[in-house]
Amino acid sequence: MELPFICIVSLTLLLSISTSSHAQIAKAPALSPTPAPAPAPDFVNLRVLLSVAGPFHTFLSYLESTKVIDTFQDQANNTEEGITLFVPKDSAFASQKKPSLSNLTDDQLKSLCLFHALPHYYTLSDFKNLSNMSPVSTFAGGEYTVNFTDITGTAHLSSGWTDTKVSSSVHATDPVAVYQIDKVLLPEAIFGTDIPPTPAPAPAPDISPAADSPSGVSETGFSSTASKPSSSPKLSSSWSHLVLAASSGMLVVLL
Ligand SMILES: *[C@@H]1O[C@H](CO)[C@@H](O)[C@H](O)[C@H]1NC(C)=O
Ligand SMILES: *[C@@H]1O[C@H](CO)[C@@H](O)[C@H](O)[C@H]1NC(C)=O
Ligand SMILES: *[C@@H]1O[C@H](CO)[C@@H](O)[C@H](O)[C@H]1NC(C)=O
Ligand SMILES: *[C@@H]1O[C@H](CO)[C@@H](O)[C@H](O)[C@H]1NC(C)=O
Repeated sequence: MELPFICIVSLTLLLSISTSSHAQIAKAPALSPTPAPAPAPDFVNLRVLLSVAGPFHTFLSYLESTKVIDTFQDQANNTEEGITLFVPKDSAFASQKKPSLSNLTDDQLKSLCLFHALPHYYTLSDFKNLSNMSPVSTFAGGEYTVNFTDITGTAHLSSGWTDTKVSSSVHATDPVAVYQIDKVLLPEAIFGTDIPPTPAPAPAPDISPAADSPSGVSETGFSSTASKPSSSPKLSSSWSHLVLAASSGMLVVLL
């Protein structure tokens, strides 16, 4: 009497084990075939990009309230030219006290937003070229121009009121380039030319352009192309600065 019972129990146990392991085996292939290389999106959603990088929440909220985000997205979607954005971090807006942004009219705020973009896609290496073409027209047009300068391989932007550097590359795939800058760009066309002298003289150009790698910027995007000029042992210091800057420029956050 006992034997058949044990047989039945062990048989059912065996069955359940085998079916469950069978189910696992059968299930496994269903989970694994994730589409191998995710197809590159054919457009960049600037809203999403700016909300996950940075933090750029203040700038994004200005872009939203002025609807300039749609102008930029349209340029990114529908033009061959593409777009280059210079995005100040939240901390840049927080420390922007002297000419306050709180008094600006809607139109001025809109121009301020447009002032942070160029209606063309530029790579970091293009900025060296742009420095020979200053002043450069921004998306805001007219007198809303910025000057580019190249200081030991790091691109600096100047608007009279503001002198800031491109501190990292957030996204740079044709037709959309987004670079982080350290300060809010203040156009003379809004704030006038009566610029108070800076309290302290501009600090000496950064020795290490790659230094301030902000939070959230992954270094996995480094490309090996930067190491290629190391063939010559007599690397001049300005060359190595350039290489440093070029490689720092390749800190592309892959989204
Ligand atoms: C940009 O393209 C995306 C995807 O095609 C679309 O959803 C979005 O509405 C477009 N935006 C503009 C402003 O053209
Ligand atoms: C902002 O507006 C207030 C009152 O309207 C004024 O007192 C203040 O000086 C203005 N600030 C700037 C920076 O223009
Ligand atoms: C670089 O600048 C020169 C003028 O200095 C201009 O003719 C040329 O088209 C520029 N090249 C690019 C790629 O923008
Ligand atoms: C920009 O460059 C032009 C030409 O070199 C110069 O006249 C102008 O003063 C510069 N503007 C700023 C804000 O540096």
